[in-house]
Amino acid sequence: MNIAVVGTGYVGLVVGACLAETGNDVVCADVDREKIDGLKRNVLPIYEPGLEPLVERNQAQGRLAFTTDVSAAIRGAQVVFIAVGTPPDEDGSADLRHVLNVAEVIGRGMDRELVVVTKSTVPVGTASKVAAVVGRHAKLPFHLCSNPEFLKEGAAVDDFMKPDRVVLGVESDFARSVMAELYAPFVRTGKPIIFMDIPSAEMTKYAANAMLATRISFMNEIANLCERVGANVDLVRRGIGTDERIGPSFLFPGPGYGGSCFPKDVKALVRTARDSGMPLRVLDAVEEVNESQKHRLFEKLSACFGGSLSGATIAVWGLAFKPQTDDMREAPALTFIEEALAVGAQVVAHDPAAMHEAKRKLGDRIRYADSNYEALEGADALVVVTDWNEYRHPDFDRIKASLRRPIVIDGRNLYDPAKMQSLGFTYESIGRRRAEASLPRVEVAVGAA
Ligand SMILES: NC(=O)c1ccc[n+]([C@@H]2O[C@H](COP(=O)([O-])OP(=O)(O)OC[C@H]3O[C@@H](n4cnc5c(N)ncnc54)[C@H](O)[C@@H]3O)[C@@H](O)[C@H]2O)c1
Repeated sequence: MNIAVVGTGYVGLVVGACLAETGNDVVCADVDREKIDGLKRNVLPIYEPGLEPLVERNQAQGRLAFTTDVSAAIRGAQVVFIAVGTPPDEDGSADLRHVLNVAEVIGRGMDRELVVVTKSTVPVGTASKVAAVVGRHAKLPFHLCSNPEFLKEGAAVDDFMKPDRVVLGVESDFARSVMAELYAPFVRTGKPIIFMDIPSAEMTKYAANAMLATRISFMNEIANLCERVGANVDLVRRGIGTDERIGPSFLFPGPGYGGSCFPKDVKALVRTARDSGMPLRVLDAVEEVNESQKHRLFEKLSACFGGSLSGATIAVWGLAFKPQTDDMREAPALTFIEEALAVGAQVVAHDPAAMHEAKRKLGDRIRYADSNYEALEGADALVVVTDWNEYRHPDFDRIKASLRRPIVIDGRNLYDPAKMQSLGFTYESIGRRRAEASLPRVEVAVGAA
């Protein structure tokens, strides 16, 4: 099939490369010339495991092309994916400017009957707005489809190639059959394609992200309470995660959620709800909890320094909002760093993938280390913000020898509090008391009632 993908960010690039990989002819278009020039030379603008070989192979085999000419990309396309950004507007609602710009270009540029797919995360009702704009300029029939994307940054290629499900909001048999054919190679193992009406598809994406954000804020509050009452959130997490009704995912406490999706999508849904006269009180709380959780690392560190961090040098491990990505949008590390700088501390940071992005965002306000151990040299304390694999089992003797004071604030509960204490560290984590005995082994009693 001939496919156009407009917007080659985290979503558009993955969608384009994966659709080319299954044999389609794909043109990816973006207004960002630098991005497109780089992609033509197989230089990716983002870090995403497994994506580079896909782009390289499909470009070499002529199934994947890149252009800044959005109209040219649309010519001949049977399906056009709109995958541009939908950043939060000032009032928290999703800013649809880019989506509607693209809709206009589609209306003007289409030269055959086609399916217009909204892949960007957009509020309920957006497809009708897109239809109105395309329809104002189109001379041929077109069909709408809302196809929310559930990929996770850091595992995006795998998630797209092997989705748990594909959600397709359609309102014509034409769109239904074209989209079913396009997605058939991705659901061969029997994972469902769930067809629904367009507003339900649009809402599904927000509901999914809001549910995940709720789990995170819920666990962060439980973790904070655990600290107060002397419980250990790691054990509580395992205790509840084994309940099939709850499940183990998204129960890890931490420094608050960040990234390009949860914060903006929760805000947009809250806004939609308010505008509809149906405030979502649970989500108001989810946001509020997350905002305060983002300050926890700084509060803990500051307490270790008796409230006086001025002049201290703090090593930070992890800048991306989660591992396996270079994305720092709304990253908890940014909140921590800004707070530390504001009280006169200095920051030396390391991240395996996000250094380039950090330099773009923070410039020379902090120092950058080539390795996680280099960041420790001469630092007064270590704060672990992102749970990259390489931080999980470090050389603690080396950490202790490098730090001026053996203080570790672990925002991801990577280390054993008892071990840290026995090694002589002042160690703080999330939802576990500081001076705690070793974690009891959790035995799985086979056949137990
Ligand atoms: N990043 C994720 O993990 C993720 C997951 C699911 C859904 N989404 C949603 O997908 C959408 C895109 O997200 P992203 O993270 O890929 O964004 P992004 O910012 O990485 O990429 C958006 C791209 O669109 C381009 N663009 C903007 N206006 C354009 C125009 N008029 N014509 C052509 N290109 C244009 C930008 O230059 C940019 O390259 C958002 O709505 C987001 O909420 C993102």
